[in-house]
Formats: sequence, C-alpha cells, structure tokens
Amino acid sequence: MVKTKKVKRILLDLHRWALLVVCAGMNVYTFAQDQVIPMETASNALVLKIDQKKDVSIIYYGKKLANRNEYDLIPQAYKQLGDGDYTQVLNAAYSSSGSRGLMEPAVSVTHADGNNSLDLRYTSHDQQQISPGVTQYRVLLKDPVYNFEVSLYYKVFAAQDVIEQWSVIKHNEKGNVVLNKFASANLYLKADGFWLNQYHGDWAKEMQPEESKLTHGIKTLDTKLGTRANLFQPSVFMVSLGKPASEDEGTVLYGALEYSGNFRTDLELDFQNNLRIISGINNYASPYTLKPAEEFVTPAFLYVLSHQGKGYASRQLHDWARSYKLLDGQGDRLTLLNNWEATYFDFNESKLKELLKDTKKLGVDLFLLDDGWFANKYPRNGDTAGLGDWQENKTKLPNGISTLVKEAGNNGVKFGIWVEPEMVNPKSELYEKHPDWVVKQPARAEHYFRNQLVLDLANPQVQDFVFGVIDNLFTKNPDLAYIKWDCNAVIFNAHSAYLKNQSHFFIEYMRGLYTVLKKIRAKYPTVPMMLCSGGGGRVDYAALQYFTEYWPSDNTDPLERIFIQWEYSYFYPAVAGANHVTDWGKQPIKYRTDVAMMGKLGFDIVVSHLNEKDLLYCQNAIKDYQSFKQIVWKGDLYRLASPRESAVASLSYVSKDRSSAVMFNYLVNSRYGQGSSYPVKLKGLEAASTYRLSEISLYPGVNSLIDSQKVYSGQFLMEIGFNPLVNSGRTSVVLKVEKVK
Ligand code: DGJ
Repeated sequence: MVKTKKVKRILLDLHRWALLVVCAGMNVYTFAQDQVIPMETASNALVLKIDQKKDVSIIYYGKKLANRNEYDLIPQAYKQLGDGDYTQVLNAAYSSSGSRGLMEPAVSVTHADGNNSLDLRYTSHDQQQISPGVTQYRVLLKDPVYNFEVSLYYKVFAAQDVIEQWSVIKHNEKGNVVLNKFASANLYLKADGFWLNQYHGDWAKEMQPEESKLTHGIKTLDTKLGTRANLFQPSVFMVSLGKPASEDEGTVLYGALEYSGNFRTDLELDFQNNLRIISGINNYASPYTLKPAEEFVTPAFLYVLSHQGKGYASRQLHDWARSYKLLDGQGDRLTLLNNWEATYFDFNESKLKELLKDTKKLGVDLFLLDDGWFANKYPRNGDTAGLGDWQENKTKLPNGISTLVKEAGNNGVKFGIWVEPEMVNPKSELYEKHPDWVVKQPARAEHYFRNQLVLDLANPQVQDFVFGVIDNLFTKNPDLAYIKWDCNAVIFNAHSAYLKNQSHFFIEYMRGLYTVLKKIRAKYPTVPMMLCSGGGGRVDYAALQYFTEYWPSDNTDPLERIFIQWEYSYFYPAVAGANHVTDWGKQPIKYRTDVAMMGKLGFDIVVSHLNEKDLLYCQNAIKDYQSFKQIVWKGDLYRLASPRESAVASLSYVSKDRSSAVMFNYLVNSRYGQGSSYPVKLKGLEAASTYRLSEISLYPGVNSLIDSQKVYSGQFLMEIGFNPLVNSGRTSVVLKVEKVK
C-alpha cells in the first residue's frame, strides 16, 4: 500500500516537472502541470499557469517580481477565485464557449458534427529567442474530445515592455468546422476599478477621446466599415488600472489590433470584478469555415503596460514601432509640396511645371501630384468619374507622368504621385469592363460613398490589377520617389462575385490587400508610401509595416490639428505622421508650420500666393526643420501641457542622449488674454547638466523675447520650468534646447 503511494508520488512528480527538450535554439516543454510560464519584459510579467486539469490561466499581468518563484503565490493572495468562480475558467488564457466558459469567449466554434462545445487544455509550450531582446512563446492547447487545437503566440519585446499576441487555430475533424468567433487574444486584469479611454471620430474629426469607468458587463469597440475601417472608431485604446492614469503617473495598458479591416474588442468586467479584454477580427457577418488541416492565423493584438503613466507607454510604443514595425522606422523622410488643396482637379502640365519650380523655391524635397491626373473616357475632373482608369489624362498631361518626373529632376526635386487603387467610380472604363470586380449586391441598388465603390480584393485578378497600378507606374517611371495611397470609401452591400462563401468576404478582402502590399514591398522595398484614407481612416500597425507614414486627418486647421496629433501621439511615433501646412484655419503661416513640424513636414499651399515675408519664413523654417527633424522623428516625446487642460499646449522631443530637445508651444485658447502665465516644466533632460534655450522658426523681422545667453540646469528646467512667453502676439513658439555642459 505504502509502496504504491510512493510510486504514484514519483509518477506524479515526473509529470509535474516539465520535460525539457532543447532543439535548435527552441526550448520545448511538455507534460507540465501545476507550472507557471512567466513571460517577462524589462518592467512587467505576464504569467500563465497550467493546473492539474491542464487548464491554462492568466494568473498575473503586472510589475515583474525579482523572485520568479513568487508568481505562483499570487492567486492565493486574492480571495476572488476558487469557490466564487463557478466556471473556474474566468481567467482562461484563451476563453472558449460551449463547455465551462460562460463569459464572452475568445473562440467559439461549431464542430464538423454540429456540436458547439469547445474546451481547450494544455498540451505543450515552447520558447524561442527570435533576436536579442525578442522572445516568442507558443502554448499549444487541444480539445480532449475533438481534434481541434489552438496555438497561442506571445512575441515579447523585453526592452519596450511590448507584447504582440495572436492565435493559430487548426483542426483535423472529419469535415469543416465553423469558427463563430476567432479572437487574436484575451487578457485578464485585476485592479480596483478600470477606466477605458477610447476614440471615435468622423471625416476631419478623427481621434476624439472619451474616458469612462468600466461597469459590469461588456463594452465593445468595433468597426464594420470594411475598408477605411477606423473612420468611426479605431482599435487603439487605453485602460487605466486602479485610477485614471495621467501623463506621468498611474498604471495604464495601451491596446490595439494590428489589422486594417473590421475589428472587435470586448472589454468585459465580470462578476469577480476582473477585466477580460478580448480582441480580434470582427466576427460580424463573418463565420469562418475552416477546412481540416487549414490554419487560421489571427492578426496580432498589441499591448504595452506602463506603471509611469501614459507618457512612458507612448515612448515605449514609439521605440517598438521604430525598431520593429513601421516601415523604415529608423530611416529618413522627405519633405514635400502637395498640390491637392492648391489645385484640386484643375491642373495641366504647364501648371504642374510651375509647381515643380515652386517646390524647389520653397526648399522641400519632393513634389506630390494628387488626385486628377488620370482617366480619358471619363476624365477625372471631379470625384464623380474616372477612378479605376489609371492612364494619364491626355488633355491635362499630353506628355505623361514621365515628363513631369524628368522635369522634377531638372529642378532638383523628386516626384511622387497619388493613387487610390482599391476603388472604382461606376463612371469608369474599369467598371464597364469588369463589373464583376466590384463589391456590390447583385440584386440591390448600388449605394456610394464619395461616388465610388470598392474593388473586390478577395479576387486574385483584382489583386493583380491593383498591384499592376503601382508596378506600371514604377516600371514606366523608375525615378518615382513617393506614393500616396488613398482609400475613400467604406464597404456597402458587401458581396464578392468571386467568393463562394460570402461569410469570408471581409476576411478575404484584407488578406487580398495584404497580399498586394507584400508583393509591392517585395519588389519596391524602400520607396516611401503614405497611408491615407480620406484622413486617418485606416492607420494601424499591420498597415504600417508597408507604409512609411500615415495621413492623420484631412483637417489641417492647425488648432484642430494640435488636438488630433496629440491623441495620435499616444500610439504612433512622430516620424510616421505626415502633417501638411495648408490654408485651413485662421492662424498665421508660422503657427501652421510649427504644428506641421511635429512630424513629417509637408506643404499643400499655392507657393506663388505667399507674400515675400511668408515665403521667406517658410524657406527658413524648412532649414530649421532640417536641423532638428531627427530629434522629432527619433527622440523621446514628452507631452508637457495638454491643450485640453491649459490655454497653452506644450510638447517636447528629446534626443536619446539628452543633449538636445525641441519644445513646441501653442496658444490654444485666447479668451481673456490668456497666455503662458506659468512656466512649463520640461521633462527628459539630465538634471545635473546645463542647457541653453533659443527660439527658432522665427518670422522674418520678429525678434525673439527669449534670452538665449542664459543657461539653466536640467533640474531647474524640470522642477521650475521655462516660460516660452506665449501670448496673443506670440501664438506659437518653438524652442531649441541644447546642452552646454
Ligand atoms: C482624400 C485625401 O485625404 C486628400 O488628401 C486628397 O488626396 C483627396 N482624397 C483626393 O481625392
């Protein structure tokens, strides 16, 4: 009897300890029970636990502990789980439906035999060093009853505290399985209260924040617009834990789905007061039929956790984006002159040749030809016709684009061009030739967005066509240096003449889009491309793998833009944001330019209409910009004074070595003669070093009120602050901060 017990114990112990197999840099573990998997970054740990029943749960996501053995002690410190959780799977690493899970699932299926239950148990896990500082974990879960499995992937970026999480769903049942829900990830957080900061908007009103305390039940952030998916709501959000985080204090999680189509993020506060965050492709109108052995790979859910407020989370995310995600994130960008607001559709070759001269005169790197250069049978002279017919319009451009590219070269500038290759006007030759390439319901009236429809990128022939639009441009004009990729319509009447299963349409559209973008990048790996969607209707980190920059909004009124750029700055680095100086807004050219300089600077004005001083100002400002742009693009962003909380908004970008910074200050509310009554506290400098501040981007003939002879310690600038002397006569002030010793 005693002997049997002993043997049983030894066997149990054997099972308890992971069997470690080391193969080709990958550590593979199996048969583990009662085991924790801590996935650690510089500051945090996301900890999974495998229990006796082989359930895999999230037992912790928070600050890293010095002693890894103590993670296992965390659950017992809470008196929430155990008998209180009648499901026992509230904190499942990937919650399934139809068995014990009764809360919102991450995955929900109908098996080949019609059964709706899924129960995922631990099978194995492995860990792989992808590159220095980047570790990828995989946890394999299988249903004990059905031949159905999910691999959970966690790509952990140690220094940036960033995790990308996604799932691969697969089965080998005797027929097809329908995935009713197929999220990328779910997280499980514990805190004394959760505050959600979410965003909504519309054309020219992007990124409006709203913060609210999460109450019990589900809050869903989602989109069903198909293309231009973020027009109403982007997938980026923040959740503060314990209390609303401020710029420099509090615990806050930033989340975003790396996906350009329909997404869905559920935030569910459960009966134990814990928060489950489930994010993935929107299952709206999209039950997915998965064949045996086919892999369904979800997009990555991206998150970063900060214990030092929103500012730190942003800087971590920006570093991550520049190093790992954004195309050419560490590279240079081109300043430009765009002709959209200068000409709209009304231009011809000679007008453009003048604009090329203006590009040179202004001192920017590139001329960007916008909408209106193409289509002949139905000329693109407005937004009602021509989309899809990507041949140069012979009346406007009798000698084609190549003449303009050459002419740009003669003027010592580069040439870029606008396209909107996913779209078609019903009034176009493309529509006439290929009505079956268009997304529309065969038996219903067409419904338009900006007089246009979307091409069916689920169809490989359409993918080839869209690739061809770009490829032809480059083949004919190898010196073409820039593409602005627009996308103005949402998807109405979602239906593909190509697909047999219409439930796959939204997913296949996105797969088609990424296939095209991958193909473009395989052939043209470095050419800069702007991701535009009638404004910021599409920016996300899946798209930014293929684009060097995005267009935050068509709203270029600098006052509005301060607010819009401020919100985008939480999630995207300045190097990715294309900002153009236009005639929107009542502010002087200096104010407009200063705002646009907080990112990638461009102009969309009639240079010849500028008076002498304004032109001189722009030329000098561009030179100033060249001197500090690397700090804005590659440095650390510190938001110093919020436009929502104070009459003067301030932001600074500090070089990584802390030796220089650029500080932007704007009057955003001029009522009652407001200005910078208080000094603005700088951040990110070295307390013990000495700095000099001087004003740049000065309007010709205006003397600065800033005494650049004075020096200040970093401590003074960060504890007491510096007054940029903003007032109704000095509505925007840009300061260069330089270490003197
Ligand atoms: C919408 C874009 O946001 C604008 O900048 C411009 O390119 C127009 N489309 C052109 O139609």
